[in-house]
Amino acid sequence: MDRRQFLANSLKTAAVAGLSLDPGRAAIENQRPQEVPGEISRDEIARAQFPDGFLWGMATAAYQVEGAWNEDGKGESIWDRFTHTVGKVKGATTGDVTCDEYHRYREDIGILKQLNQKTYRFSISWPRIQPAGIGSPNMKGIDHYSRFVDALLEANIRPFCTIYHWDLPQALEDRGGWPNRDLAGYYADYAGILAKHLGDRITVWAPFNMPWSFTYMGYGVGAFPPGRANFADFLKAAHTVSLAQGEALRSIKAASSKATVGSAYGMAPAYPKTDSVADRAAAARYHAMNNVFFLEAAMHGRYPKAFVGEPPYELMGVRPGDEKIMLAPLDWVGFHYYNRRIVSDASGAHPTGGGFSGTEIEADPSTGRDPYTRFQAVMPTEGPLTEAGLEIWPHGIYDLVTRISNEYNHPIIEITESGCSYLDAPDDRGRVPDARRTDFFREELAELARAIADGARVRSFHAWSLMDNFEWANGYTERYGLAYVDFRSQKRTIKDSGLWYGRVAAANRLNV
Ligand code: FCB
Repeated sequence: MDRRQFLANSLKTAAVAGLSLDPGRAAIENQRPQEVPGEISRDEIARAQFPDGFLWGMATAAYQVEGAWNEDGKGESIWDRFTHTVGKVKGATTGDVTCDEYHRYREDIGILKQLNQKTYRFSISWPRIQPAGIGSPNMKGIDHYSRFVDALLEANIRPFCTIYHWDLPQALEDRGGWPNRDLAGYYADYAGILAKHLGDRITVWAPFNMPWSFTYMGYGVGAFPPGRANFADFLKAAHTVSLAQGEALRSIKAASSKATVGSAYGMAPAYPKTDSVADRAAAARYHAMNNVFFLEAAMHGRYPKAFVGEPPYELMGVRPGDEKIMLAPLDWVGFHYYNRRIVSDASGAHPTGGGFSGTEIEADPSTGRDPYTRFQAVMPTEGPLTEAGLEIWPHGIYDLVTRISNEYNHPIIEITESGCSYLDAPDDRGRVPDARRTDFFREELAELARAIADGARVRSFHAWSLMDNFEWANGYTERYGLAYVDFRSQKRTIKDSGLWYGRVAAANRLNV
């Protein structure tokens, strides 16, 4: 499909999905699709090169795919509690069963192998390992992940382990959750247990998935569990996570000499709304708060300038000496890219003390700004939208990768997630012709290849996701998979985009 058709289809789909598109803008885009910013030529796609040995991969997270929520001694997680509470998740759905990967992982690893994948980013469920969040491990949980990792290695797939992808043991939430500083120590014990039992085979560890998101969404605005909406709790939680990240790096390395530790941060390139000094400063604060807050803490033992005026360190619970605990130079830097933000200054706006407005899944912008970061960040809708309503902006990955590369002295980079939701389902012949997803990845990967050609040391790309799964508070209303899942029969059908991505992985180029 060419760009014109792609755009037209995306606009059509967005309209069908009832997304708010300005009809005037849609008409303009249809008239001159060639001028859409960020467009990539066919030549560029054909020329795109990836280094030899580039690691093509896919990602998932325990709560989103495993199911088996109460088996083999697993404890309750905050996501179990949240999804079992009426009114929290679209469609009143849960991750109790989801893709049932806990029992079907051999089949799923078979799909990865069939699609020539070299790396699989998965997460471990903390309450399977420590049902109450502390104490000696539940060996049934350890044994499960041990078999799982062996199966990956047998298939010649690198196990990339995310230690925490949001499913905190409920027992630790009952002790105060992430705002309680003690969680840094409990978390480091948990990470050490994993490294001790699995560190002979797992060498690539990311302590936290999207630390800004789960602290902010869980404690700052209450859209995720535990559902608190208190800005001070968010700040405290964020600081505990920085301490935990540092403590975990040390406990992992103490338990496994082969371990390398990095990250799986969520990041979005931030562009100032206008060229004014104030908007540019606001975009810099966005970058500091949402992109590199935890990276700066790890790499330099300090926080970047995310706040207007004096940083609220007291509110965060920062103590003298914490910089040494936070300091944990990462072996490589991992981050996701989904889309971009346009940021403007909100210093003049009246802070209401409510939520702080911002990105696509945050609080209602009308509730005002927090009194500290004082910016407004919005996801623009200039490019086409996915069916989840997110703007497609392939060039953003180029800007983000080159910026992080420059700011952190050319680290090894792993792209830990990127993807798009479209609801395409199997047709009469059992095929899933999801051309829009293939187009999404092709253009974004061409931009990534350009960043690599310009010197960025990117060694992997993990598509989100191996298969359709439980999409947090959106339940099963979004489908990010490269394989379609029929949640009634548990049948997996590799989508056309998955077959394409498998050919890309085999050929190490995009025009396949
Ligand atoms: C990321 C999450 C991942 C998934 C994708 C769509 O923010 O890390 O679990 O939900 O978005």
